[in-house]
Amino acid sequence: MNAVPKQMNHDIVLAADQLTRHYSVKKSMFEQGTVKALNGVSFELKRGRTLAVVGESGCGKSTLARQLTMIEEPTSGRLLIEGEDVAGASKAKIAELRQRVQMVFQNPFASLNPRKTVEQTLGEPLAINTKLSASQRAERIAQMMRTVGLRPEHASRYPHMFSGGQRQRVAIARAMILDPQIVVADEPVSALDVSIQAQILNLFMDLQQQFGTSYVFISHNLSVVEHIADDVMVMYFGGVAEVGDKQTIFAKSRHPYTRALMSATPAIFEEDRRIKIKLQGEMPSPLNPPSGCTFHQRCPWAIERCRSEEPKLREVDGRQVSCHRAEEVGDGEA
Ligand SMILES: Nc1ncnc2c1ncn2[C@@H]1O[C@H](COP(=O)(O)OP(=O)(O)OP(=O)(O)O)[C@@H](O)[C@H]1O
Ligand SMILES: [Mg+2]
Repeated sequence: MNAVPKQMNHDIVLAADQLTRHYSVKKSMFEQGTVKALNGVSFELKRGRTLAVVGESGCGKSTLARQLTMIEEPTSGRLLIEGEDVAGASKAKIAELRQRVQMVFQNPFASLNPRKTVEQTLGEPLAINTKLSASQRAERIAQMMRTVGLRPEHASRYPHMFSGGQRQRVAIARAMILDPQIVVADEPVSALDVSIQAQILNLFMDLQQQFGTSYVFISHNLSVVEHIADDVMVMYFGGVAEVGDKQTIFAKSRHPYTRALMSATPAIFEEDRRIKIKLQGEMPSPLNPPSGCTFHQRCPWAIERCRSEEPKLREVDGRQVSCHRAEEVGDGEA
């Protein structure tokens, strides 16, 4: 494995350009509807850095994760992995790209095969994708187990013989075993005891230091994001509300939705807490999206323009934000 010191190399390891994923669903017995789960999401992931993705339930975070890991094909838009366009790539190429982007799920109980020992779970990708001999594989498995804080002598254990935190360590080891450039983690600590969460977060950070892995880290918990992120992307209703480096977004968010999320989390965000924004109402139905800005019905800043014209993601004050009033938001009350 090649170690890349965290601050050295900041090229773009993954880029999403207007990534879109629609699902066709039955609205009623006779009517078909379209859920625009992901609606034109663009961002860049820098090498060796962590992009945290935040947003309410149903805003499209897991859908994004499935596109980034190539579990699903986007309806439209482009995904570039280390500059290589996934669309139009050969089958062999896609298989190779899939190895470079691994996923860690929320619930290791569901994501690990209960009938496989750790040795089998970690050994399979090695047997399929590398030319290592059986003894080299065993050595690699032992080494990876130590790296994630497991004891190699537990390699013959099954998932149920571990605690929740240890099981997530197994899932992380499986994600890391082929030395991926990118790990997409979808709420990887939210199913764990609070006392265990910090240990697993620290493991993610240690692994990044050691191997230079880039993370897309999905979390609805802003304290977790504050701990682990370099960059933050706030999603709302399948789109990007605001994206930029953590300091910029946390010091002065310029999207009313970001500010609402932050003012709901005490203690961390001093500046944002002074201007309380309560989220009004619920997220709209994905089968019946609002006109204009998808946030306008809940937004204390909304004006007529917001009802009719969809805001584009644009640069304001050092971050990308999709709000017509971004220049004013952050500098005063609605
Ligand atoms: N396979 C599918 N078929 C139809 N609709 C789907 C499908 N997958 C997701 N959706 C819908 O797309 C939207 C986004 O769902 P997604 O699971 O990506 O949200 P999320 O941000 O991960 O939410 P959570 O925080 O609850 O995990 C939701 O409205 C969801 O119901
Ligand atoms: Mg999800």
